[in-house]
Amino acid sequence: MGGSLLGRFRFICVLGGPGSGRGTHCRRLQRELNVAHFSTGALLRQAVEERHPAAGNIEGAMAAGEPVAEPVVYSVLKAACARAVREDPARVVLFDGFPRDAEQTRWMQRTFGEPELVVFLDCPHSVMVQRVTARDTRSDPLRSDGREAAELFRPDNTESAAHTLIHRFNVDTLPIMDVFGTKVKILQSDAAIEQVYQDVLVCVGGRIKQTDGITQEALAEARSPSKDDAAAAAECAKAALDELIK
Ligand code: AP5
Ligand code: MG
Repeated sequence: MGGSLLGRFRFICVLGGPGSGRGTHCRRLQRELNVAHFSTGALLRQAVEERHPAAGNIEGAMAAGEPVAEPVVYSVLKAACARAVREDPARVVLFDGFPRDAEQTRWMQRTFGEPELVVFLDCPHSVMVQRVTARDTRSDPLRSDGREAAELFRPDNTESAAHTLIHRFNVDTLPIMDVFGTKVKILQSDAAIEQVYQDVLVCVGGRIKQTDGITQEALAEARSPSKDDAAAAAECAKAALDELIK
């Protein structure tokens, strides 16, 4: 991404199994700290709603708890990051549920660089299953936590999808913790929501307060639309379609 800021913004990965509380805590951090929050799951649900050319494939994979094709994930995430960075290049970005495996980790490192911190929300298997199957909270506005209907009623709110999601998490995501070494901060997420949030806040808030190295020239450059970003996004979208047509 020569000439763009995509390799220079600060980001933190928030990882954990399904129902571990990534979305719950990231949404609150977004409200209380000046951070951007991108859940790849939420971006993919939005792509389906906006009738993305690969909407059928995205929906099918998500309903089964299986990963969506990587070119699609990369294209929606890159587009979201490009918009956020242009809006405020100094704002820290939270990646919620990304990267999901070793391949996505390598892509992330090539494309965006290294995360400042990796928060791992550790949750027992049985608690994750219980939370995933109870994710549909449309009938209880107090638990909706500002989420859109699409986030509350999800086709993967089933026990079978929960088991697939947890299996995928154990096999694909847990091993990548080794890649990040001392950057990983493990937090227990089966305590009360408020208690877990306080731990997350100390961890993420403490990190964000540290001074960043973004220069004024870089800020100015990021605010002007980059042809590189547009070309890369178009290239990603084409690659996603080619991959799906194969
Ligand atoms: P994604 O949207 O990431 O869903 P998920 O993995 O099923 O995880 P959740 O969103 O349920 O977990 P969460 O930790 O955010 O839980 P939440 O805070 O909402 O992915 C969906 C699909 O998209 C994937 O299956 C895949 O198909 C695709 N996808 C996404 N990213 C991808 C990628 N990178 N590559 C390829 N494909 C990708 O909490 C859940 C519930 O628990 C809520 O009701 C909440 O109130 C409750 N809760 C949370 N914390 C507590 C607590 N401490 N006590 C009590 N209740 C709690
Ligand atoms: Mg979520």
